[in-house]
Amino acid sequence: MENQNVEPAEGNLGIMVVGLGAVTSTFMTGVLMARKGLAKPVGSMTQYDKIRVGKGADKKYLSYGEIVPMAKLDDIVFGAWDVYPANAFQSAMYAEVLQEKDILPVKDELEKIVPIKAAFDKNFAKRLDGDNVKDCKTRWDMVEQIRADIRKFKAENNCARIVVAWAASTEIYVEPNMQVHDTLEHLEAAMKADDRVNIAPSMCYAYAALAEGAPFIMGAPNTTVDIPAMWEMSEKLGLPIAGKDFKTGQTLVKSGFAPIIGTRCLGLSGWFSTNILGNRDGLVLDEPANFRTKEVSKLSTLETILKPDAQPDLYGHGNDTDDQYYHKVRINYYPPRNDNKEGWDAIDIFGWMNYPMQIKINFLCRDSILAAPLLLDLCLLSDLAARAGRSGIQRFLSFFLKAPMHDYTKGEEPVNHLFQQYTMLKNALREIGGYEADEEID
Ligand SMILES: NC(=O)c1ccc[n+]([C@@H]2O[C@H](COP(=O)([O-])OP(=O)(O)OC[C@H]3O[C@@H](n4cnc5c(N)ncnc54)[C@H](O)[C@@H]3O)[C@@H](O)[C@H]2O)c1
Repeated sequence: MENQNVEPAEGNLGIMVVGLGAVTSTFMTGVLMARKGLAKPVGSMTQYDKIRVGKGADKKYLSYGEIVPMAKLDDIVFGAWDVYPANAFQSAMYAEVLQEKDILPVKDELEKIVPIKAAFDKNFAKRLDGDNVKDCKTRWDMVEQIRADIRKFKAENNCARIVVAWAASTEIYVEPNMQVHDTLEHLEAAMKADDRVNIAPSMCYAYAALAEGAPFIMGAPNTTVDIPAMWEMSEKLGLPIAGKDFKTGQTLVKSGFAPIIGTRCLGLSGWFSTNILGNRDGLVLDEPANFRTKEVSKLSTLETILKPDAQPDLYGHGNDTDDQYYHKVRINYYPPRNDNKEGWDAIDIFGWMNYPMQIKINFLCRDSILAAPLLLDLCLLSDLAARAGRSGIQRFLSFFLKAPMHDYTKGEEPVNHLFQQYTMLKNALREIGGYEADEEID
């Protein structure tokens, strides 16, 4: 398709994923199965969604690939890094997300995806102890080694373009430090000085990806690219970045359900969300410092949809200081459920004359089944954004993310409202495709 706003999607697209665990192996297996016509990529916007372009008699509903040039599933080549040496087949079997019958037809291809040694520091994920780990003298050395991995993978697989995505364990919370994370110069200095407190391994992957011309996506809640130094780097190099944290189960429900309360001007006094989860992600998140990273990400969703400042009568009561509704999120590690997470939401709302009512949502979801299409869409749309010359934070990808990045140094607010996010997504596609952006409901 000819389009002057965006370069064509020619050649192989290398998708290199940090972490070859449950999400990544489910994602790769699904893509390979779909390529053979043996499975359907359900839940993927890039594969299914249709967007209206034009108005009135001229209106048409087109898939993304008809609006803009998208990379095809057949063009993808997979690579990965992991702390454990298991290849993608072994990892898919270990994860037990998919049944053997849905993995075996692509066994040969999965077995060829062998993880590159990880850039890892146990201080950032204490409960992992794999030995497929690089020997790095400093954080800068870590960056150099990852850069070499990307170059090697690109050459060996004859890739025209690379996208790097993080679907590895959640690291401990790294507080943005405005002496280190504020500028690219300071960030590089800290990497060279081997600052192992402020420079998480994930930052080395992100830096290396951008330095090699690859967009970077953060699928966990880590601060990694959510710092001004990384925004600066991605702007300077003309590359897109996106994050943070795949919006899969409970937060998807929250960002879609909270608008019902807000749009109808009902009150909220409390929202309690709890989960039981038994996969390795749940194990890592059982560690308080790692959970803190997730909690920050999960709490932010509601606050930007139901705003106490704007509507104190409706959203200004319920917590201990009585200036906002009570909002709590809990994740509990419970091995018997493995990847089949169960989430409960107890929502205390009120109506006319403050009379209380309750809503309960019980979502028995499958974590990686929900995350896999998000990983696919984020990779394909980041590749599109790069070809369209977009750089810096890609706010149109907020739709896929729990804690969407935004420039907090300028007082920008994240958009968490699912339907506003969908409008942003559609309009970005329209704009890149040379159509007029609009806000009509369809
Ligand atoms: N599944 C979901 O619904 C969902 C939603 C939002 C975010 N996430 C995030 O996605 C990530 C992956 O989830 P998962 O269920 O696949 O977890 P998982 O534990 O099965 O896989 C993560 C893998 O990352 C590897 N790893 C950790 N640190 C690494 C490093 N520095 N370099 C390379 N590999 C490293 C681990 O060895 C592990 O194999 C987690 O951070 C999780 O919080 C998942």
